[in-house]
Amino acid sequence: MSQRLKLEIKALDAVEGRDLVVLVGEDLVLSGPAEALAGRDATSLLARMAAASHFKGKAFSGLTLPSPEGAAYERLIVVGLGPSSERGELDFATLGGAIAGRLGGGRDADVVAAMPGAEIEAKQAAEIALGLRLRSYRFDRYKTKSKDKDEAGTLSVTLRVTDPAATRKALKVAEAIAAGVLLARDLVNEPPNVLYPEEFADRAKKLEKLGVEVEVLDEKDLKKIGMRALLGVGQGSRRESRVVVMRWNGAGKSDEPVAFIGKGVTFDTGGISLKPGAGMEDMKGDMAGAACVVGLLHALAARKAKVNAIGVIGLVENMPDGNAQRPGDIVASLSGQTIEIINTDAEGRLVLADVLWYTQDRFKPRFMINLATLTGAILVALAQENAGLFTNSDELAQRLTAAGLATGETVWRMPLGKAYDKMIDSKFADMKNSAGRYAGSITAAQFLQRHVNDVPWAHLDIAGTGMAAKDSEINRSWGPGWGVRLLDRLVRDHYES
Ligand code: BES
Ligand code: MN
Ligand code: ZN
Repeated sequence: MSQRLKLEIKALDAVEGRDLVVLVGEDLVLSGPAEALAGRDATSLLARMAAASHFKGKAFSGLTLPSPEGAAYERLIVVGLGPSSERGELDFATLGGAIAGRLGGGRDADVVAAMPGAEIEAKQAAEIALGLRLRSYRFDRYKTKSKDKDEAGTLSVTLRVTDPAATRKALKVAEAIAAGVLLARDLVNEPPNVLYPEEFADRAKKLEKLGVEVEVLDEKDLKKIGMRALLGVGQGSRRESRVVVMRWNGAGKSDEPVAFIGKGVTFDTGGISLKPGAGMEDMKGDMAGAACVVGLLHALAARKAKVNAIGVIGLVENMPDGNAQRPGDIVASLSGQTIEIINTDAEGRLVLADVLWYTQDRFKPRFMINLATLTGAILVALAQENAGLFTNSDELAQRLTAAGLATGETVWRMPLGKAYDKMIDSKFADMKNSAGRYAGSITAAQFLQRHVNDVPWAHLDIAGTGMAAKDSEINRSWGPGWGVRLLDRLVRDHYES
């Protein structure tokens, strides 16, 4: 990863950089501090250029002007806030992203965090900083030509705010979350020859520096525990499987933990039910659920969240070889139930079945939330706009939906039910791992639910949101680190003591 942003927080009293960024609503009126810093004539210059270039102050749109005569800076960059009636819901992270995008790399700029008619609070300024940070991320570790690396260059921003001390404090939290998101992005972007189960476990181990307890279970341990469904998926690979248990103890000893579980298939060929070749390289992202869990624990630990949180990730590589699992095989999962393997490409649910059972059994959590790039069918249903949410708890549904709207990492609830559950009954075993095309995401969720007892549980199918991301104001990375902000927000709003 490269950090392409240098960030400072200062008072609204000077302009030191080559660019000055100011915010305006649809009336194109500058805030007091912006007007003072931009200099005489800035307002009339803006009015003339806005008319000529059809700039209307729409949210996150921008206009770049030469500075007025005699100013000490070079470019005046005006970014829109949209209509003042919608100011209450303005997404400040997206605003920060739009600002970084307008500026581009290799510049140094002062950003005036002030808007006409309303205060920008410290927390909101920190969100702008978060957006700047997320937009400035590039994954260029494997680019050897400096031309590719330097194109963007480092961006230096001085964020100018009303209350620098309060903003610096809020920034610490935002930086913890940003670090978690960027860690998740790195993991998703890494190539599968570099990031295989053992290496993934080593990277998770690094959370120990932040005070997270990290336990790595190897194949010997997993056999002893009885995770045969998970081991069956990994048995066709030269790389050994791993399960990693992470614990952040930020609350009292007697506080029940919350638990997050991630699918970590470091590469999914489909196994013997081999996937078609075109686009198979994308299956390096089939560990985005696990990446999110590691990123989330990083964020929680780095901001010292007052919560006990468990992260458990199942790490395997799904490969076809002479030892690989076959369609027709029957395996017993940790729950004791037997599974007929119909399709070796429906491997994520096999991994999660064991890890879910293990987590509820060992930790008796307040809730379990799992994330998985589980089905292509969720893309058919929801495209890349929402993660699929399946849950046995209306309370979790409501809280996750709200956290989604607050962070922009939105979820959409999908049904569970007896009729769908019946579809995974098997002729030969307790259940089968695939029920064909119809309701593919739901039958996958039903399979997971057969491995969940009466604990509140939610499954997020992130095949559409967790990898191969569309560009947005806060993300230009293939791996977006989806879910870290969502779940951090969920914890912050409801589960911290
Ligand atoms: N990892 C895939 C799902 C996936 C597809 C993730 C596209 C991201 C983008 C999963 O293991 C898989 O192969 N699912 C199958 C299930 C089927 C065999 C029942 C699918 O979606 O086709
Ligand atoms: Mn698969
Ligand atoms: Zn998969």
